[in-house]
Amino acid sequence: MNSELKRICKTLRLAYVADIVDTIPFENPEQYLESLLHRELQLREEAKAERLIKKARFLSKKTLFQWSEQVRFPPHIDAKELCELHFINQHENVILTGSPGTGKTLLATGLGRKACQNGYEVRFYRVSDLVDTLERVWKEGKLQQFRNKFKKVDLIILDEMGYIPFSKDGAELLFQLISDWYEQKSLIITSNLEFSQWNRIFVDSRLTAALVDRVIHHAHILSFTGDSYRVTHALSRQK
Ligand SMILES: Nc1ncnc2c1ncn2[C@@H]1O[C@H](COP(=O)(O)OP(=O)(O)OP(=O)(O)O)[C@@H](O)[C@H]1O
Ligand SMILES: [Mg+2]
Repeated sequence: MNSELKRICKTLRLAYVADIVDTIPFENPEQYLESLLHRELQLREEAKAERLIKKARFLSKKTLFQWSEQVRFPPHIDAKELCELHFINQHENVILTGSPGTGKTLLATGLGRKACQNGYEVRFYRVSDLVDTLERVWKEGKLQQFRNKFKKVDLIILDEMGYIPFSKDGAELLFQLISDWYEQKSLIITSNLEFSQWNRIFVDSRLTAALVDRVIHHAHILSFTGDSYRVTHALSRQK
C-alpha cells in the first residue's frame, strides 16, 4: 500500500486497514468496503479483549470454551443464563462454594475471560493477595488511591475466600472494599467454606454477618459437589 494511503488510515485511526487491504476479496466496491471495515472492527474488538484480559491478571489461561466442553454443571444451575453474563449488568454476584478441586477457580476464570471478551473491565485476585495489598497501601497512606482503581471495573473475582484467615485489620479493609462495591459492581467469589463458616476467616462475627449479608443479597450461589478433578486426574495417570 502506498504511503499516502497509510497516512490517511493513520489520521482516521484505522489501525488495521493498511495491513489487511490486500487480503479482503473484492466483488464490488460496496461489498469490499463493508468487508474491510467489518474486519477492522473485528480486529479492534479482539485487541481490546486481549488488553482487558491482560489487565484482569488471571492466574490461569484456561477459557470457558475449553472448560464448558468437559464440565458438569451442578444440576440446578442454568449454565446458559450464567454464561450470558447478565449478572454483570445487574450488579449481581456469583458465589462458588465447594470442596477443593471441583472446578470453582476454573469457572470463575472462564466467566471472567468471557466478560473481557464482551468488553467488561475485570480484575482477578486471590483473596489473600488482595488483603496483603490492602494492608500495604493502607500503611503507605495510599488506600484511597487503590480504591479509586476500581472505579471503571465491572467485575471483580475474589478467589479462595477463607483458605487463609486474615488479621483484624485485613478483615476490616476487605470489608470496607466489598461495602464500596455493594450494588455497584459484580463479584465472583470462590470459597471452600459454607457461609456458616465464614466467621472462621473474619474472626469478628458481626463483620462476617454484615459481609455475608451484602455479598449474598443479589447472588447466584452455586455449590460444587463431587470429587476433586485433581485427584481423579492423578489416579487416572497412575493406572
Ligand atoms: N469440569 C472439569 N473437567 C475437567 N477438569 C476440570 C474440571 N473442573 C476443574 N478441572 C480441573 O481440575 C483442577 C482443579 O480445578 P479448580 O482449580 O478450578 O478447582 P477449585 O474448585 O478452585 O479448587 P480449590 O478449592 O482447591 O481452589 C484444574 O486443573 C482444572 O483445570
Ligand atoms: Mg481454586
